[in-house]
Amino acid sequence: MRHLLTTKEFNKEELLELIQLGRAMKANPAGFRASLANKSIVTLFEKPSLRTRVTFDIGIHRLGGHAVYLDQQNGAMGSRETVKDFAGNLSRWCEGIVARVYDHKTLLELRQHATVPVINSLCNLYHPCQALADFMTIAENYEDLAKVKLAYLGDGNNVAHSLLITGAILGTDVTVVAPKGCGPDAQIFNEAAELAKVTGARLAVTDSVQDIVGFDVAYTDTWVSMGDNTPLEAVKDKFMPYQINQGLLDNTGIRHVLHCQPAHREMEITSDVMDGPASLILDEAENRMHAQNAVLHTLINQGDK
Ligand code: CP
Ligand code: NVA
Repeated sequence: MRHLLTTKEFNKEELLELIQLGRAMKANPAGFRASLANKSIVTLFEKPSLRTRVTFDIGIHRLGGHAVYLDQQNGAMGSRETVKDFAGNLSRWCEGIVARVYDHKTLLELRQHATVPVINSLCNLYHPCQALADFMTIAENYEDLAKVKLAYLGDGNNVAHSLLITGAILGTDVTVVAPKGCGPDAQIFNEAAELAKVTGARLAVTDSVQDIVGFDVAYTDTWVSMGDNTPLEAVKDKFMPYQINQGLLDNTGIRHVLHCQPAHREMEITSDVMDGPASLILDEAENRMHAQNAVLHTLINQGDK
């Protein structure tokens, strides 16, 4: 049984196939209308969401399936009943579980006890569905992902981790530009570096924006992630040198900009860039649905072959 918790579950060819399938689904939605016919997917959220909730709900509907939304009315999963019992019960009713959780360990437990595929729709460490949509968006604009240089600016968080891991597998160079002490988790970076040895992707962490001169794509995310109650104002001065603005694009020659959203305009990204010609941000948001549908089509139907 295959799951999607990190993207490490897939090799380069398989990730490229998922991206290709997402693009095929986007181009020809009619061809996939019965992909999840008579199948039900539970989408479970411990944290807020706009894009993930809506793209899974509408995406599953477009594939002929049925989405059941569960919010955690009583706090984190595991408090009313164990995660094991949660997984056991859900597995008797539905064909897949999509889960957004605080702690990656909850996903490991769900995967251990579920008898249906589990898909991570964001946790403290990874955001694999986001990374798949991001690389699909890059692939729409660059012929060869192995020739792209991607710079992630800001906090070395779950989104940065998934870009590093997925980029490493695909052969894309990924540099994280972050203030000292705010880089990615060292263990996750080292794992990505191991994966990069296979594809030749160059991965780096730096605190200098000079190191991304000549890069192709700049990416940013919030400076304070969900679950962290630090006010943005408290970290603003530390992160402001890493803001994506027109000056950064002019100085580096970077041509395209991505942001997973929700965005904090004039903080990690300026409005003129977000709404300007370099922005692929709304394509990226749209592609969440197509990339996820490729994952659903592949994972939920895996036993039917
Ligand atoms: N990018 C993303 O995951 O957005 P939501 O938190 O709105 O789902
Ligand atoms: N890093 C952000 C991503 C939101 C989609 C968070 O975890 O809140």
